[in-house]
Amino acid sequence: MFDPKSRAWIVPSLCLISLLISLEVDGSPAPLILLESAVAKGAVCLDGSPPAYHFSPGSGSGVNNWLVFMEGGGWCRNVTECVELTGNSGGSSKFMKELSFSGILGDNQKTNPDFYNWNRIMIRYCDGSSFTGDVEAVDPATNLHYRGGRVWHAMIDDLLAKGMNKAENVDRTCEGGLASILHCDDFRSLLPSSVNVKCFSDAGYFIDVKDISGADSVKSLYTDVVNLHESEKFLPSSCNWRQGPSWCFFPQNVVPEMSTPLFILNSAYDSWQIRNILVPSSADPGQAWAECKLDIKKCSSSQLQTLQGYRSQFLRALPTSTSTGVFIISCYAHCQSGGPPTWQDVDSPMIENTTIAKAVGDWYNDRSAVRKIDCEYPCNSSCPNINNE
Ligand SMILES: *[C@@H]1O[C@H](CO)[C@@H](O)[C@H](O)[C@H]1NC(C)=O
Ligand SMILES: *[C@@H]1O[C@H](CO)[C@@H](O)[C@H](O)[C@H]1NC(C)=O
Ligand SMILES: *[C@@H]1O[C@H](CO)[C@@H](O)[C@H](O)[C@H]1NC(C)=O
Repeated sequence: MFDPKSRAWIVPSLCLISLLISLEVDGSPAPLILLESAVAKGAVCLDGSPPAYHFSPGSGSGVNNWLVFMEGGGWCRNVTECVELTGNSGGSSKFMKELSFSGILGDNQKTNPDFYNWNRIMIRYCDGSSFTGDVEAVDPATNLHYRGGRVWHAMIDDLLAKGMNKAENVDRTCEGGLASILHCDDFRSLLPSSVNVKCFSDAGYFIDVKDISGADSVKSLYTDVVNLHESEKFLPSSCNWRQGPSWCFFPQNVVPEMSTPLFILNSAYDSWQIRNILVPSSADPGQAWAECKLDIKKCSSSQLQTLQGYRSQFLRALPTSTSTGVFIISCYAHCQSGGPPTWQDVDSPMIENTTIAKAVGDWYNDRSAVRKIDCEYPCNSSCPNINNE
C-alpha cells in the first residue's frame, strides 16, 4: 500500500534529515548509545541488533527534567517489508550513527527556550511497529524479531536507572508521534506519582478514514501490523479490543480514555497521511494524484476540494477536551518539532503569531491552554517554507 515515493521507512529518514540539515546552525552532537544489555531480554531491533538511543545530559535548572523523544517512522506489515527495513536504520542499529540534536532536542536557549537544558533522549525506532511488537518466536529463515514493545520497556528501565526515577518533570515526545500517544499512560505508570509527566505527539494523529477509492486502506494496514507484531499487549489497556485489532492503533479512539495530559501537533494536511491514507497508490492506479501528492501547488481545484474534505474529517477526529493541547497547522508537511525551520525560527509556521515552540512551552508550563487551529490552506503565509516535505 505504500507509494514507491514514500515508503514507510522513508519517514524516519525524512524526519532525521531535518535534524541533520540544521546541524551547522543549531546542532549539538548526540552520540549513539547501543543498549547491549537489552539483547539478553530479547529486546532487539527487527534484525536482532541491540536497540539504541542518543543522550544529551541536562544542566542547571534542567538537571532533573527529562525529555524522551521517540524517533518516528512507518510500519512494516508483512515479512517482505520487515526484511527490507533490516537493510537500513529503520530495522537495524548497525546503520545508526551519531546525530545532531536540534529543535525541541536542541541545546540553544534562543530557539528552544523551554527544554534546552533538560536531559534529552532520542530513542531510535527500529521495530516497524511503533514500539508495540512482542513475538517470542524467531523464524530462522528471516531472523526477524518482532520485539518493539520489549525495546520500549528495556529503554525505560535503563533511563530510570540513569536517574529518570528522580525526575521532577518529564515530557514524552515523538516525531512519528503515534508511539507517544500509544505508550503515554504506560510511561506515566512507570514513574513515581510525584513526577509531572506530559506527552507530546508530533505528526502522530493518523485518522481512521477511507481512501479516495472508498477502501479502508489504513485500517487494513494497521490490522496487518497488529497481527504480525502481536501488538495487543503493548496497546493501551483502556482501549476496547472488541472493535477489531486496528481500533486501538487510532489516536482518536485512544486519546479520550487517556489520563496523562497530551499535546497534539499535526497538520490538517499531513503530507504522509495524504500520500498514504487518503491517496495510497492502490487507490490511484491512473496516477492522477502523482503531481499533487508531491507538490500541493500542483493540485487541481477538485483535488484541493478533496483535501479540504480531509481537513474537515481530521478536525472532527480531534479530542474536544480543553486540557488537551492542540496545534493544527495547514502546511503540507509531516514532522515539525525536530528542527529550527519549523520549531522556532524567523520563518517558522505560526498560528495567531504563535510558533510551535511557544505553543508547546506555554502548554507544558501551564502558562496558557492551547487550542489553535489554522485556517484552510492556502490562507496562511507561514507555510511555503516547509510545504511539500
Ligand atoms: C507486503 O505488503 C505490500 C504492501 O501491501 C505488498 O505489496 C506485498 O505484496 C506484500 N508482500 C507479501 C509477501 O505479502
Ligand atoms: C500578529 O503580529 C502582527 C505584527 O506584530 C500584528 O500586527 C497582528 O495584529 C498580530 N496578529 C494577531 C492575531 O495577534
Ligand atoms: C498565518 O501566518 C501568520 C504568520 O505568517 C500568522 O501571524 C497568522 O496568524 C496566520 N493566520 C491565521 C489565520 O492563523
